Amino acid sequence: MKILLTGGAGYIGSHTAVELLNKGYEIVIADNFSNSDPKVLDRIKQITNKTFVHYEVDVSDYNAFEKVFIKEKIDTVIHFAGYKAVGESVKLPMMYYENNLMATITLINLMNKYGVENCIFSSSAAVYDSSVARLLTEETPLSCTNTYGYTKLMSEQIFKDAARANPRLSIVLLRYFNPIGSHESGMIGDNPNGIPNNLLPFITRVAIGKLERLSVFGNDYDTRDGTGVRDYIHVVDLALGHIAAIDYCKEHKGAIAINLGTGKGYSVLEIVHAFEKASGRKIPYVFTARREGDVDEYYASTTLAKQVLGWEAKFGIEQMCASAWNWQKQNPDGY
Ligand code: NAD
Ligand code: UD1
Repeated sequence: MKILLTGGAGYIGSHTAVELLNKGYEIVIADNFSNSDPKVLDRIKQITNKTFVHYEVDVSDYNAFEKVFIKEKIDTVIHFAGYKAVGESVKLPMMYYENNLMATITLINLMNKYGVENCIFSSSAAVYDSSVARLLTEETPLSCTNTYGYTKLMSEQIFKDAARANPRLSIVLLRYFNPIGSHESGMIGDNPNGIPNNLLPFITRVAIGKLERLSVFGNDYDTRDGTGVRDYIHVVDLALGHIAAIDYCKEHKGAIAINLGTGKGYSVLEIVHAFEKASGRKIPYVFTARREGDVDEYYASTTLAKQVLGWEAKFGIEQMCASAWNWQKQNPDGY
């Protein structure tokens, strides 16, 4: 069975590629490397000792992307391709709408034209109104605070409409919580450009000595230690969730949204301490003002994922931190 991974050279895509190849799937990667390094392709091959085809292509470019569908007989698409930086999306909204929405629309048009029926989409907990509840179920009201979140919410709607119009489609909208960590080899990992926005890559860069100290955004939240609580999930668990979704697509039609999280929340300070324990490095930090748009605490309801995908996260926070450190230590300057 051939799986097309748009954005397959990125952080989550590369980890999913490894798990798919290990399970014997044939894969095709389509990526324009706008936020990834082509070196990742060799790393995937080294880890798995398997080979695959890749296309350097902008998936929002219909004519260019169509060549992939002409050449490859695709069974299922996993659609990772998109921009993901929340702050940048607020500054450059048109760039985000153009890339993320056009990629989704182009993909669906090509799937319809070439009879590809199954698609798994990288959505986000950013689609929830996280101010209304801490435990977020798939029924929690949806609302966004930034352009990035809206591109995910709008893409979800586009997929739902496409599935209504074409009853042969099977669409799984996976709402990721906070993916962290790396493959156990330490050969692939999260590699953001510039100063990281997200907590874990910031911590690993403090640990490696590239950044002086962590700013903890707020210590007056209504949480057990005053710092923000999130549901961190190991990227390998997340990758395995996609494989469960491929199986689900074979048996079901229509569109469904499913959370991928652990159901457990950790505070910023708990993460700092877990990372210090896993790495043996001290992480100096200071408390600073809250970051705009952040909320106290939220974590995933995992019931639906267990029920319909038969999937649940296995890795604990120690393994998440240890693997994030292993990647950073082996690749102090990224790829
Ligand atoms: P990433 O930036 O590492 O990977 C995305 C990949 O898509 C990159 O390799 C990039 O080059 C590629 N890409 C972007 N636009 C493209 C286009 N038009 N054509 C072809 N390739 C394109 O991001 P990631 O962390 O691996 O995230 C994957 C997906 O999951 C994204 O859609 C992201 O929004 C979503 N997501 C990520 C997180 C997270 O915390 N990492 C959380 C929720 C959802
Ligand atoms: C952020 C995005 C979310 C996106 C997700 C994954 C915002 C408001 N939300 O989630 O839409 O889906 O990333 O890309 O940007 N923190 C610090 N210091 C730091 C960095 C983070 O204290 O330098 C804290 C934050 O306040 C938060 C926690 O660490 O409490 C996690 O932050 P982060 O990794 O950025 O993820 P989210 O904010 O949950």
